[in-house]
Amino acid sequence: MKTVESPHDMQRICGNLRLAGETIGLVPTMGAFHEGHLSLMRAARQACSQVAASLFVNPTQFGRGEDLTNYPRTFEQDAALAEQVGVDYLFAPTEGAMYPNGYETYVEVERLTKVLCGVARPIHFRGVTTIVTKLFNIVRPHKAFFGQKDAQQTVVIRKMVDDLNMDVEIVELPIVREPDGLAMSSRNQYLSPEEREEAVVLYRSLEEARRLIDGGERDAKRIISTIERVIRTASHAEVDYIEVVDSSTLQPLDALNGETLIALAVRIGSARLIDNIKIKV
Ligand code: PAJ
Repeated sequence: MKTVESPHDMQRICGNLRLAGETIGLVPTMGAFHEGHLSLMRAARQACSQVAASLFVNPTQFGRGEDLTNYPRTFEQDAALAEQVGVDYLFAPTEGAMYPNGYETYVEVERLTKVLCGVARPIHFRGVTTIVTKLFNIVRPHKAFFGQKDAQQTVVIRKMVDDLNMDVEIVELPIVREPDGLAMSSRNQYLSPEEREEAVVLYRSLEEARRLIDGGERDAKRIISTIERVIRTASHAEVDYIEVVDSSTLQPLDALNGETLIALAVRIGSARLIDNIKIKV
């Protein structure tokens, strides 16, 4: 595995790979790798002849008062894990190289970013679409791999790719979970042991919703109140949102219909955790 720091070098390397007829897969990340990240790299390894992963804690997607300075940074360990799962190029640029003095260009998806996580995090997705555009322009991947863990992020990126005629296939992979069901996340490290135990309510509440729906329930309000009841059993949990939306438009549904996304964000201690399930009815 080769580690590349300079965007210019990365662009030249990837341009040459493309000219040589290679299929390039890109896995964008902010590091602190866990099995969720590694599952994307393994999928890229299967689907593409060359795999690039990017590791960049992107400042423009963190709001004021969010966890940019505390975000876990474990470069050596990440590089070893990426190499183990077969990544060919680890692109790890500096902040100054990605956002030099005088930087002033942003990419914004207008509507899909105003709902769900966009309410509490108004500038977040603008940072995500900006950095992902820059990564796509540097690597020019044939395929890019994202996790369903951040379901809204994938919807927003697909919309950007479609609206801006970007020539890249977006692949979404399932959520990887801890044995007790908690979705893996770099932010789980912020939880105290007691909070970590409570955090399983996110998954439990979604499983409870799935059971209800399997039993024939279709009413969004009743599904949401069931989820809320399960989450309330955790004393440190504070609901940010629980929503039942169409999985591609992200518009709220009164009754389940077609592919539905049930998504939630919950604060536990200093961590803001998200989880979701998709259900086709
Ligand atoms: P990060 O949070 O590091 O996540 C990188 C990728 O890993 C995302 O596509 C995310 O959905 C996926 N992922 C995280 N946890 C997962 C899990 N438990 N199961 C499956 N996939 C999981 O998402 C970002 O970084 C950034 O916003 C980024 C796209 C890199 C732009 O800065």
